[in-house]
Amino acid sequence: TLQATFYGHTYDNPFMNASGVHCMTTAELDALADSAAGSFVTKSATAEAREGNPEPRYVNVDLGSINSMGLPNLGLDYYLDYAIKRQASHPDQPFVMSVASYQGFDEYVTNMRKIQESDYTGLVELNLSCPNVPGKPQMAYDFEDTDRLLTEIFAFYTKPFGVKLPPYFDIMHFDKIAAVLNQFDLKFVNCINSIGNGLYIDKATDTVVIKPKGGFGGIGGEYVKPTALANVRALKQRLNPSIEIIGTGGILTGRDAYEHLLCGASMLQVGTQLEKEGLGVFDRLTKELLAILESKGYASIAEFKGKLGTL
Ligand code: DHB
Repeated sequence: TLQATFYGHTYDNPFMNASGVHCMTTAELDALADSAAGSFVTKSATAEAREGNPEPRYVNVDLGSINSMGLPNLGLDYYLDYAIKRQASHPDQPFVMSVASYQGFDEYVTNMRKIQESDYTGLVELNLSCPNVPGKPQMAYDFEDTDRLLTEIFAFYTKPFGVKLPPYFDIMHFDKIAAVLNQFDLKFVNCINSIGNGLYIDKATDTVVIKPKGGFGGIGGEYVKPTALANVRALKQRLNPSIEIIGTGGILTGRDAYEHLLCGASMLQVGTQLEKEGLGVFDRLTKELLAILESKGYASIAEFKGKLGTL
């Protein structure tokens, strides 16, 4: 079985979309819910609906993708309304609501206040790592602001939530973010968002491939798997055991999924490969991952989760 337990619920399998892919509208969200994915997450919502950055703003390339979407979304009220209705109609199929901020610190707080005051009681993924809003830094690269923000939110917020993190590249940064997060009753962390502000150049034209920010954009896909695995592993080793990990980054095959689980992930999100392949990716990944478990003689994910070998 590929059953995955995550914050008190057992899902048929650990696979979800990564936020931003196939989750903008209620039609896309319902299609995800009806797909082979174990669960799903909504597009990161801001207080007001947004058009996002000028196009082209997402491009698939051989080894992954580059994007600078700029938080296009239908607004927090739209996703909250969907979440409340979905929770009532499908109480046995939990999902995750992604919440971001366009303006910065204060909007994160007001967005979470609105959810606190709503009838939605399910999981929220607080996105502290959008790299694509011109002039706005990624919250989770500022450890003091992240500490202040979570302190402010936990002063009033009583429902379960976790945070989506950017990739870190230094052992001291793993130590620092874990020390901040361990002060709070977070239910999960999601590692990683895209590797921010990469640059892809088209061979034929010697130009960038996306329009916003002179071509700089978040990198996903095969490029990011070693960074994603390191972040999942490093945070799993440092966080309170009550904080679960969602592994995201470079999952194209059952083997990639298996490696995220070895590093300690409980759930797995697929972004670039979902964009490239469509919803059929979840059926393929579940088959490939199940074949790996069978070949290794494992009956369940619990038998190997977090049990990465070292030398
Ligand atoms: C966007 C990109 C992200 O990586 C993210 O976490 C949120 C939003 C975007 O550009 O829309």
